[in-house]
Amino acid sequence: MPVIATIRDALPDRRTALTPAVAGQLVKAGHEVLVAKAAGQAAGFEDAAYSAVGATTVSAADAVSRADVVVAVGRPSAATLAKFRAGQVLVASLDSWGDTVPLDKAASKGVKLIALEKVPRQISRAQAMDVLSSQASIAGYRAGIVAAAAYGRYLPMMVTAAGTAKPASVLVLGAGVAGLQAIATARRLGARVTGYDVRPAAREEVTSLGAQFLSTSVDAVGEGGYARELTKEEAATQQKELGDAIATFDIVIATAKVPGRKPPLLVTTDTVKAMRRGSVLVDLAASDKGGNVAGSIDEETVVTKNGVTLIGAASIAADMAPAASDAWSRNVQAVLAALIVDGKVDVNAEDDVIGAMLIPTKEASV
Ligand code: NAI
Repeated sequence: MPVIATIRDALPDRRTALTPAVAGQLVKAGHEVLVAKAAGQAAGFEDAAYSAVGATTVSAADAVSRADVVVAVGRPSAATLAKFRAGQVLVASLDSWGDTVPLDKAASKGVKLIALEKVPRQISRAQAMDVLSSQASIAGYRAGIVAAAAYGRYLPMMVTAAGTAKPASVLVLGAGVAGLQAIATARRLGARVTGYDVRPAAREEVTSLGAQFLSTSVDAVGEGGYARELTKEEAATQQKELGDAIATFDIVIATAKVPGRKPPLLVTTDTVKAMRRGSVLVDLAASDKGGNVAGSIDEETVVTKNGVTLIGAASIAADMAPAASDAWSRNVQAVLAALIVDGKVDVNAEDDVIGAMLIPTKEASV
């Protein structure tokens, strides 16, 4: 049976790609499972928990050299990638929209790279492998909690002897997986919630959660039901139409991304300036290329001169490392089930799910 290893090379991400629970199931299925020392520690899984289920703790170098399949969360460093050999398989989120040079080098050497971010989500068989959804769902939930914690007032309406507090108004920009979860979380906390998206199909999903839908004149459905990038004119119209509405909310949670592209700017500097003191914006799209919110900085909390809190939180799922790792591991387990056939690793480029995740993709390599 193939040897499966996990490494945690993508520091400072606290998640791990293999929890003891899943490692134990792989051991039971007959695999030798190698875990790089402390690979699960930051997610709350000690080395002893892996030994207890029959996995072996080894150095990261040994994990890579002895494994047939290596599973990870993020892309390993270029130095680690260079240690992979022909025929070995790496399953991870490989940032295939970023610098592809280290990936191309490994692929041309014959390393089989399975990029989890390329999972073909529309194929139902692939849904159990979908780390984008599992992590976005956690990110949306956490964004609701983080926003509530940063806001200096109640989310629900409160009637007390000391007076009545109004419910907070929350706007969620982008109603995909993360956005819908943020809406549901803010609703559970008692806020008055509104959702917005450029995909008209999102309206029904937003209203079915009991939230209002904010409409603009801009619709943008692209390939596979995803939003496409807006033209300059559409983006300007959107900013103008959204601007006045956004400034009336107490909390804004922005989750709008376009895969592989710079995120759209939805909350401009002028809109941030127009917001009330004490309002909170959480930007799940914050990045070094800019986010949905002007002035947000990833991994930082900034308070503007007019007293608005901007929280940059692109990797917020990793803040719930135990839950995020549980989900990631189950997604990886589903990928392994598709890759290991009759006790042998079989990376079938013709398979519509595996082929879509393989780097370089069939189309690109022609
Ligand atoms: P995402 O993380 O790429 O984007 C988040 C949301 O932002 C999306 O809803 C998108 O429409 C929206 N957005 C993008 N640009 C925008 C703009 N300029 N203004 C406002 N909103 C903007 O998307 P996510 O959450 O990964 O998935 C998006 C869609 O894919 C959803 O409809 C989801 O239900 C669907 N999906 C389908 C699956 C399937 O077919 N099995 C599996 C997972 C997701």
